[in-house]
Amino acid sequence: MNLLAAAKTRYATKAYDPARKVPQETIDGLLELLRHSPSSVNSQPWHFVVASSDAGKERLAKGAQGNFSYNAPKIRDASYVILLCASVDMTPEHLEALLEQEARDGRFAKPEARAGQQATRNGYVTLHRYEYKDLQHWMEKQVYLALGTLLLGAAAEGIDATPMEGIDHRALDLELGLREQGLTSVVMVSLGYRGEADFNAGLPKSRLPAETVFTYL
Ligand SMILES: Cc1cc2nc3c(=O)[nH]c(=O)nc-3n(C[C@H](O)[C@H](O)[C@H](O)COP(=O)(O)O)c2cc1C
Repeated sequence: MNLLAAAKTRYATKAYDPARKVPQETIDGLLELLRHSPSSVNSQPWHFVVASSDAGKERLAKGAQGNFSYNAPKIRDASYVILLCASVDMTPEHLEALLEQEARDGRFAKPEARAGQQATRNGYVTLHRYEYKDLQHWMEKQVYLALGTLLLGAAAEGIDATPMEGIDHRALDLELGLREQGLTSVVMVSLGYRGEADFNAGLPKSRLPAETVFTYL
């Protein structure tokens, strides 16, 4: 499917067919897509929790209680559910791991290239930590890029998906011990195939017209 057709036909799925499962190779491809998502200065301040078993999805459904219970069936009935998490700090260990990975991946022909990359990345981290004072927000923006990548990728593969901000971050962080690992939940995505009860499947897509969202210079 071409990307524009995928973007126009994808929609936020409201009910899943619990009997239909996403093939392993398709989900493997989508996870690779997530891992390859771009991030500012290649900071990759994220971690992804993937559930496909009933027990795993039940743990993620702990984040859909009370006010968020409308999202619980989308978690329980989907084939896969991915919780996108952000780091809560940009630690020296993480920065070192990034640099080492880039070195292993052959990005530095000369020592100056490595030093330059380190200085640039550290410069941005310092800017967001001390000047803009939005380090957490900045890291979560990177996670949202990964969300967009995943949603478009799923659509291109013919997989239905639901992005969900309607989740209890505290409950999820506690259930999964995320904070102890320097992480916090950001947004969840269900993946699978629409069920008959999905009222949204037949509704037309609605977007503001091109004249109002584009300015041409
Ligand atoms: C970041 C984000 C969070 C969302 N959270 C929820 C949610 O918690 N539950 C839900 O049913 N839909 C959720 N949606 C779906 C949006 O309402 C939907 O994407 C929007 O209305 C546009 O419709 P479309 O995706 O069907 O084109 C979310 C979408 C995004 C992008």
